[in-house]
Amino acid sequence: MFVSDTIKYAGTADEELTLFESQYVLEEGMLYNSYVILDEKVAVMDTCDQRMTEQWLENVDRVLEGRKPDYLVIHHLEPDHSAGILKLHEKYPDMKLVGNALTFRMLPQFIEEDLSSLYVEVDDGGELSLGGHNLTFFKAPMVHWPEVMVSYESSDKVLFSADAFGKFGTATDTEDWACEARRYYFNIVGKYGQNVQMLLGRLKDLDVKVICPLHGPVLSDRLDYYVGIYNTWSSYEPEDKGIFIACSSIHGNTLQAAKYLEEKLNELSGGSVKVVLTDLCRSDWAEAVEDAFRYDRMVLMSSSYNTGVFPPMENFLHHLAGDNYCRRKLAVVENGTWAPSAARTIKSIMEPCRDITWIGDVITIRTRVTDENRAQLTELARKLLEV
Ligand SMILES: Cc1cc2nc3c(=O)[nH]c(=O)nc-3n(C[C@H](O)[C@H](O)[C@H](O)COP(=O)(O)O)c2cc1C
Ligand SMILES: [Fe+2]
Ligand SMILES: [Fe+2]
Repeated sequence: MFVSDTIKYAGTADEELTLFESQYVLEEGMLYNSYVILDEKVAVMDTCDQRMTEQWLENVDRVLEGRKPDYLVIHHLEPDHSAGILKLHEKYPDMKLVGNALTFRMLPQFIEEDLSSLYVEVDDGGELSLGGHNLTFFKAPMVHWPEVMVSYESSDKVLFSADAFGKFGTATDTEDWACEARRYYFNIVGKYGQNVQMLLGRLKDLDVKVICPLHGPVLSDRLDYYVGIYNTWSSYEPEDKGIFIACSSIHGNTLQAAKYLEEKLNELSGGSVKVVLTDLCRSDWAEAVEDAFRYDRMVLMSSSYNTGVFPPMENFLHHLAGDNYCRRKLAVVENGTWAPSAARTIKSIMEPCRDITWIGDVITIRTRVTDENRAQLTELARKLLEV
């Protein structure tokens, strides 16, 4: 990937990785981005995951063109970006490490060797001159770790954005960027919308021409679009009008009801409203989390299970609540054979979520979907389309 004539890409693509952070399914692996700024002084921007360190060292070597790095800038200490720190230090023992006070407080938890003599501590607003290139650092606490900082290089107008503006996958083009960026954002950063808002506010005055995130493509086209969509996501505004039906069904009756509701919604709206149905038992829950945030309305439909709710739904809801899901309109349909308990459990898990409006009454199905249930689902479809 190209950044500028003097800022070189040194990242790696792990095409074999199928599970990121031990829970996010990957279709096309993961990129770990790293950059090298060549100037009077040379700076390496971040390292990579341990699975890719050998490849990364080779890439760094190639773009260094025989020069030695003076600085390694550590924007984020999470292992997917810090695994190469010691390796690069061993190769270039005089290289300084650039981080903030918290970076250096946390670094010994990641590396046993005492590297403190090499620390160059930068504070918020701190600068580092490399000659023609000048870096200014901005702390970005809890986007999505406490030590995170971003930096702005003023001569090429480049923002090194850490995990912000990152995405899953190894694609280096920006076509359909939002699809995997949205799944990454809501699952990994989603809880910290307020912190992202603060960061976006501080970046407003910068003239940014290129965003260099730690994952995904370098962004140099449509920057207003990326910043705008990050603003929508981090303010918890629904991105699209639409109805997301999330269903978990043991024996298939509730799923039948979900398909009936989907059909009614499409019929009554004449296809003018987007309706998305997900079977939580057979699809990626992280994608369901993404869709829950994407649309303004959601219907939760689930079998009862051991006086609670069927675990695929329970797991999904715990993720949502943990990711600060809020400001949406919800409806609930439960199924139970002897003592329906799904609706009560769903509502109690969602209890901490702010600004939730419940649409209609809970519909209770008792095993088989009856004509009465179909009438109730039709009525619910009407109500969902009215709001
Ligand atoms: C392990 C297990 C536990 C269940 N626990 C309950 C329960 O606590 N209360 C209840 O009314 N039904 C319970 N059921 C019955 C299911 O809720 C019922 O089969 C389901 O709602 C039917 O809809 P479905 O075909 O969509 O799964 C349980 C079923 C299983 C297999
Ligand atoms: Fe991270
Ligand atoms: Fe990361």
